[in-house]
Amino acid sequence: MSMDEVLPILRSPRTHGELEVVRSVDEMLLRDRRTGERFPVRDGVAELLVAAAVTGLNRRYQRFYDRAAPLYDAALGLAARLARGREADLRREYLGDLEVEPGDRVLEVSVGTGANLRLLPPGLRLVGLDISRGMLRRCRRNLRRWGVEADLILGDAEELPFVDDAFDAVLHVGGINAFNDRQRALAEMFRVARPGAKVVVVDETGQLIDRFAWFPGARQMKRSFAERFEAPVGLVPAAAVEVGARPVVHGDLYCMSFRKPG
Ligand SMILES: C[S@@+](CC[C@H](N)C(=O)[O-])C[C@H]1O[C@@H](n2cnc3c(N)ncnc32)[C@H](O)[C@@H]1O
Repeated sequence: MSMDEVLPILRSPRTHGELEVVRSVDEMLLRDRRTGERFPVRDGVAELLVAAAVTGLNRRYQRFYDRAAPLYDAALGLAARLARGREADLRREYLGDLEVEPGDRVLEVSVGTGANLRLLPPGLRLVGLDISRGMLRRCRRNLRRWGVEADLILGDAEELPFVDDAFDAVLHVGGINAFNDRQRALAEMFRVARPGAKVVVVDETGQLIDRFAWFPGARQMKRSFAERFEAPVGLVPAAAVEVGARPVVHGDLYCMSFRKPG
């Protein structure tokens, strides 16, 4: 999709107000129609993030992923081999839970380097959001190489810069255990899903962390977030239906899903 096509569903992360495109010879911006606040579009990525609002764990992991981005794809490929599988096959275990049809608009929150988008069926209108510029840069490069089209947005999962009911399916993989406010992120995914749409949320269980206890930071992560390594079913918005969770990838990940009532 071009910026003009995706514009109707974009909103200011500060006011949730409508945005308009402003083009000059050498730059493109998105401007809040009401307040005039400007958000840059750099290398095709709309930067709908209020930097000062990125604090605590979100800031810590934003920095971490900015630095880790060049190594991320190789590290995940290796981790998948250690888990006795091919990365694409492991990802397909949870991607099968998404309900999508040609023409659907699909959001991946925390898109990272785009590996899930590559495995989705063709003919979807894909939007990927992440808090890390480094990961999005990598993602853009990967998507070009793979011939996959998607709109990329720099943004925070806890303040999604989209209009309500914008997406036919919403996916999140791998970030939520360490978000500042998991409940708020789930509420945002629910808000931007259209009535009837399914939301699929995947992250690691304690088993995976135990297996990678030798990995730098793993032990500290388990200590800091001990209670977070299971599906946060109790944090799903009360209005959601068909709330459930199952283990995937030999129990290394949980796959939780819920639906916005139609
Ligand atoms: C483990 S990676 C997963 C990437 C991708 N979904 C995958 O399956 O490979 C976690 C991602 O979450 C992103 N992230 C962390 N905190 C975030 C937040 N508050 N909002 C949006 N993305 C966030 C990181 O930048 C990183 O790209």
